[in-house]
Amino acid sequence: MAADGFQFAFTPAVEAQTAPAWEKVKRHVTPMEWRLQAPLIAEINRLKREKDAVILAHNYMTPEIFHGVGDYVGDSLGLAKEAARCDAKIIVQAGVHFMAETSKILSPEKRVLIPDLRAGCSLASSITGADVRLIKQRYPGLPVVTYVNTTADVKAETDICCTSANAVQVVEEAARQWGVDRVILIPDEFLARNVARQTDIGIIAWRGRCEVHERFTAADILELKAAYPDAEVLAHPECPAEVLEVSDFAGSTAAMNDYVIQRKPKRVVLITECSMADNVAADAHDTEFVRPCNLCPHMKMITLENIYESLVRERFEVTVDPAIAERARLAVQRMVDLPPPARPARYDLVKARHHVDVELI
Ligand code: 13P
Ligand code: SF4
Repeated sequence: MAADGFQFAFTPAVEAQTAPAWEKVKRHVTPMEWRLQAPLIAEINRLKREKDAVILAHNYMTPEIFHGVGDYVGDSLGLAKEAARCDAKIIVQAGVHFMAETSKILSPEKRVLIPDLRAGCSLASSITGADVRLIKQRYPGLPVVTYVNTTADVKAETDICCTSANAVQVVEEAARQWGVDRVILIPDEFLARNVARQTDIGIIAWRGRCEVHERFTAADILELKAAYPDAEVLAHPECPAEVLEVSDFAGSTAAMNDYVIQRKPKRVVLITECSMADNVAADAHDTEFVRPCNLCPHMKMITLENIYESLVRERFEVTVDPAIAERARLAVQRMVDLPPPARPARYDLVKARHHVDVELI
């Protein structure tokens, strides 16, 4: 039996089909767990072929999802680009609701499914479209740059979206195109503060927070550095600025992955969601990971079992009102169409610029 209610056997054929994924996850999954998970993975992969479906899996998915069934894995920017590019009939979003909405906005002709509708995000729920309309009244003429971690309603009120991978580039591009020296960057206060430290453009920010990254403190990092003096500390820019100031590098989840794969640090600490280190570690055999993670309860609502149910029953379909989707698409598409940034958003200039004013709404 694969898991409660699922009756698939761990046959030699299943073992052979899932062997490449097992090689990736075997340092984090026990053989006993794998005998339960592998048949479900094989069945999900069969259903994907039968139904012409792809699974877009975020870096925070658990390893058996990430390595077992993800057709495209990556950060928010990478997943959005893939949603626009892929030609499958069905997209199953192994991530949170705003990611599924982004896929639907970019691919209105596809069926977009999310395995659990409760997979939300504290940033996305921090602001509404009505809030953005009020902000625009207060700051007429300034471009609105919105983090993709928002609802379609909010994106519809936006001039251009950004992710943590390109926020500095988008802010500078928006200021250039609008001919202004200030932009509105919402809703993540910490991302806004971290971007402000990398640019001369003035930033007006909202008080949204990621409930996972806001919990890390500078004291946590200093304690880790004292315990592991040779460890390189990589932090996500949704963390408070004081955390980035004492870290060695900061970037999106994809940037953290690239850092570890390319630089092969002897020991590393990823200041982000728990599954990230498990997934990167599968391909980083020379690096030891110290794991002071925080769980994202929303990301963790997605499981192999509900991905399977999602494909079998073609549920839960994510829809976006076409009029809202059309306006939101402009903002997301402007971001997707940007050329790759001349310099990657690394946030490590943070240390050079300590006093940056951000106007909080
Ligand atoms: P990125 O994958 O874009 O770095 O975002 C992290 C995150 O918190 C997504 O919910
Ligand atoms: Fe939202 Fe933070 Fe969870 Fe990402 S990690 S989905 S930003 S709550």
